[in-house]
Amino acid sequence: MQTRFDLTQKDIPRTWYNLLHDFPEPLPPPLHPGTKQPLSPSDLEGLFPKNLIEQETSSERWIEIPEAVRDIYALWRPTPLLLAVRLEKALQTPAHIYYKYEGASPAGSHKVNTSVPQAYYNKIAGTTRLATETGAGQWGASLAMACKLFGLECNVYMVKVSYQHKPYRRMLMHTWGATVHPSPSDQTEYGRKLLAEDPHCPGSLGIAISEAIEDTVKHPHTKYALGSVLNHVCLHQTVIGQESIKQMELAGEEPDTIVACCGGGSNFAGIAFPFIRRKITEKKKYRIVAVEPSACPTLTQGELRYDFGDTAETTPLLMMHTLGHKFMPPAIHAGGLRYHGMSPMVSHALKLGLIEAEAYHQTKIFEAATLFAQTEAVVPAPESSHAIAAVIAEAVKCRESGKKRVILFNLSGHGLLDLSAYETYQTGKLQDV
Ligand SMILES: Cc1ncc(COP(=O)(O)O)c(C=O)c1O
Repeated sequence: MQTRFDLTQKDIPRTWYNLLHDFPEPLPPPLHPGTKQPLSPSDLEGLFPKNLIEQETSSERWIEIPEAVRDIYALWRPTPLLLAVRLEKALQTPAHIYYKYEGASPAGSHKVNTSVPQAYYNKIAGTTRLATETGAGQWGASLAMACKLFGLECNVYMVKVSYQHKPYRRMLMHTWGATVHPSPSDQTEYGRKLLAEDPHCPGSLGIAISEAIEDTVKHPHTKYALGSVLNHVCLHQTVIGQESIKQMELAGEEPDTIVACCGGGSNFAGIAFPFIRRKITEKKKYRIVAVEPSACPTLTQGELRYDFGDTAETTPLLMMHTLGHKFMPPAIHAGGLRYHGMSPMVSHALKLGLIEAEAYHQTKIFEAATLFAQTEAVVPAPESSHAIAAVIAEAVKCRESGKKRVILFNLSGHGLLDLSAYETYQTGKLQDV
């Protein structure tokens, strides 16, 4: 029985798909943090190169992927699509469960799908150094890899608790030549202010973003790179969904349920947006589900309103689902899902009824992750395991109702550098917060 559906190097998409073109209602514009008026593209020039600002605001439906980016994508793309027959058997479900495996990338997650084009566009625009933030290190490692491949310096502010507790991704960043600071750090005015107030401040993604932005505006030839949330980041991730559509055709099935975890929204956007296009333009009836942690329930409990992307209120105001930019998420193990806000495009899709959202507690997540590892062999990232928990719940419903659904989910990363979190679960020390 064929359980793996592979494409070849020539099938790597030639364009990214831009959902902004097809939204039935336009996305509310970002606002200037000072004037509260719609932002003009030039307001972003301190942070991003012009070519990426153009992508951020473009409503072209298809945007060409440069050859230099496709050449690097070819190191791991197209990623495999697998039918999880052993998981189906363990669950005794009539559902078919497919997964797209983004953990096959060199950095171990989907984040390199955008770090590579971001580094490329910066390089050709004359940037020599990028500053960024990272939580558990997935994004920082992905940007470090891309910067090294394009000959850029990379300066990463890593949330302090992760810097201390997740040394391996820090080492990965060092291996790819990046400089890594625990955030809050003594490198920025904002960091020094926070450290003076509380020398043991554990940090947060919102704080690290503020530091990276301050670093950017104070250093020459430096730009800022963000691993999620923004339109151009979601755009770059759409290679995932475009490949998945072709692979499902190879498998001879069409998914009716599409699931992905959701932190800032980019891996979800990556698999979902090409399917949302079909929902809008071909009236397909897909159920598309974003899954988030109960401890940071941005889509399921946050408000849809304008808010800052960072704690120091330096970013533009984005119309998004938010828990408030001062929200300090509890220290759950899915570090990549601990963000107070959500991609405006994903938030808009929820508002328009194109997608749904669910939240799960972390003990359920590790139970699902362990079952997946023990049946399908891949040890999933805690973030990705949110999708697995939702898929298992759906497959169990299918068992109970006898309905055969075709479920597709995005396994956004592997968990081989998250084993200490697995150990916490295995020794009974994991708690729901
Ligand atoms: C493996 C993995 N999946 C998902 C996420 C969540 O981010 P996003 O919602 O942008 O995909 C992260 C973030 O670091 C991650 O590392």
